[in-house]
Amino acid sequence: MTNSTAPTATAPSAAPDNRPYSPGLEGVLAGETSLSQVDGANGRLIYRGYRIGDLVEHGTYPAVANLLWTGDWDPAARMATAPVPDAVLATLRALPKTAKPMDALRTAVSAWGATEAPPYPPTVEQARALTAFSPSALAAFARIREGKEPVEPDPSLDLVEGFLYQLTGDRPEPATSRALDAYFIVGAEHGFNASTFTARVVIGTNSDIASAVVAAIGTMKGPLHGGAPSEVVDQLAKMGSVEHAEAWLRGALDRHERLMGFGHRVYRAYDPRAAALRKVAEGMEHKPDWLHLAIQVEDMALRLLAEKYPDRPLKTNVEFYAAPVLSGVGLTPDLFTATFSLARHAGWTAHVLEQAASNRLIRPDVRYIGPAERDLPS
Ligand code: COA
Repeated sequence: MTNSTAPTATAPSAAPDNRPYSPGLEGVLAGETSLSQVDGANGRLIYRGYRIGDLVEHGTYPAVANLLWTGDWDPAARMATAPVPDAVLATLRALPKTAKPMDALRTAVSAWGATEAPPYPPTVEQARALTAFSPSALAAFARIREGKEPVEPDPSLDLVEGFLYQLTGDRPEPATSRALDAYFIVGAEHGFNASTFTARVVIGTNSDIASAVVAAIGTMKGPLHGGAPSEVVDQLAKMGSVEHAEAWLRGALDRHERLMGFGHRVYRAYDPRAAALRKVAEGMEHKPDWLHLAIQVEDMALRLLAEKYPDRPLKTNVEFYAAPVLSGVGLTPDLFTATFSLARHAGWTAHVLEQAASNRLIRPDVRYIGPAERDLPS
């Protein structure tokens, strides 16, 4: 049998593709958004035009989430945590107690999607329902793994207060929930970071909001994205004291290790979220005892990074001061990334809504660099 399409030795090769390629898509414009502007050169961040520092000072997470979803600034907007459906609770109980909180959260959102079956196109109501569900699910898992029963949501509490209540079983002090609320505001949205881009790719196929957030959680899990704050705590613990810090930092840089809480793909100036959280950390009632060490380590690390990379400004990023805030409100380091994910639900789901409102399937090209067309070995 002959195959008229079989390649021959003289088959034409594809024309060379000389279009520019940027590894990691760095600097590539891959969309348009009216949700936030990350001004990396000047270290500024705005959500729908409003400065992050002002939102932290005068807003609440529910008001900021509402702003991202609807474009309206309503400082009185409220959002309580939502109950966990029975099927999700059964799924969480079936997980090993040693499961990582990010894996548990990803599983919970997936089970929520299977239970609620939110249809395409995504809606603000779906975004709100999912954002209100996830804190309850994470709190439930955190208790189940300790052999405790989950705590039902209290609809009179706002989302962050409710999350802390469901985690501990006690109503948090107002100053504690206010500190975590500030963290949720700065964590809510940040342009085309890896997890948000992932969420947009998923919804771009006309899939559903739960699938988009499941994929985003999987992306957030990596230490180069959301895993840094717990590693900040680890690194500070390894340094131990101000006296040992500089030698430790130099050793890490000599081994080409990354200092957690420094550097950013977009910011070349001081991350404005780090500035806002440093204020919150310093004003907290229950500061972790290593906050003082962290402040001194920051100065040393900035000096050593500038020595090593004189042409590449590497400044403090949000994660450095997220660590003391999250510790100060009583969270264990293994809950840090999952708590960051709870905060980022507002941004993920707002991007999902924005993508769906003027969707074009996201499908870029890739340059082939493998062998030229050839015959299989006989
Ligand atoms: N500590 C030490 N060196 C660092 C560094 C850090 N935190 N961040 C970047 N560098 C080094 C890189 O290794 C690279 O060095 P090389 O050219 O010798 O390989 C150089 O600086 C330039 O890196 P850059 O292009 O700025 O990094 P990136 O855009 O690929 O990565 C991050 C950005 C955020 C992933 C990176 O800065 C990092 O890993 N930071 C630590 C983790 C962290 O805090 N993540 C939270 C981000 S909000």
